[in-house]
Amino acid sequence: MSDPKTHWDKVYASKQPSDVSWYQPHLRMSLDLIRRSGVTQGDPLIDVGGGASTLVDDLLDAGFHNLTVLDISSKAIDASKVRLGTRAALVRWVADDILHVPLDNGRYALWHDRAVLHFLTDAEDRRAYVGQVRYAVRPGGIVVISTFALDGPPRCSGLEVRRYSPEALLAEFGPGFRLIESNVEDHRTPSGAAQAFLCCSLSFEGLV
Ligand SMILES: C[S@@+](CC[C@H](N)C(=O)[O-])C[C@H]1O[C@@H](n2cnc3c(N)ncnc32)[C@H](O)[C@@H]1O
Repeated sequence: MSDPKTHWDKVYASKQPSDVSWYQPHLRMSLDLIRRSGVTQGDPLIDVGGGASTLVDDLLDAGFHNLTVLDISSKAIDASKVRLGTRAALVRWVADDILHVPLDNGRYALWHDRAVLHFLTDAEDRRAYVGQVRYAVRPGGIVVISTFALDGPPRCSGLEVRRYSPEALLAEFGPGFRLIESNVEDHRTPSGAAQAFLCCSLSFEGLV
């Protein structure tokens, strides 16, 4: 495959945000998990691989005002900025690779990732990802992750994915994390196909 940035920029250059298979008008499951996490409106939240999703719009509507959206694709970020209009200035935007971007230590009360971690099929990349979570999420913070479930599709956007059970997801994060809740969401793609997502909240108890 081409490098990840080229791949994802091509996806967002060739499709409308509402035509991609992972599109939902609102990320209801993520919003529910974030609401239930107990974070408050001023807490720093990061949406990792936020793409062109409307999660940031809904979080702004709910009064959250310390939001970072990171994505490897500047095209995805541009689409979200255009959609938000003047409200885009209320958000910190980072166009970079989550595996390599410098993050602030202990900055985030909540880390959200829908459908990004599952593209990391290389163990080294997953170690780098978890290292970033451990570094950037404050002790006591929450990690909300959605991946394909074990009976979800084996590929997405032309790329192989790694599918998870709640136990496997927790094991991926390793010591210092606790599973708060797990749910399975039956996502319908815009073309009507069913995709099983595993949606979990973990708490980061701190470095061990
Ligand atoms: C399947 S899409 C999900 C987008 C969004 N989270 C949603 O639910 O609508 C995966 C997203 O992850 C981004 N991505 C993939 N690899 C990445 C990486 N290494 N660092 C940051 N973003 C990445 C892609 O550009 C894409 O926007």
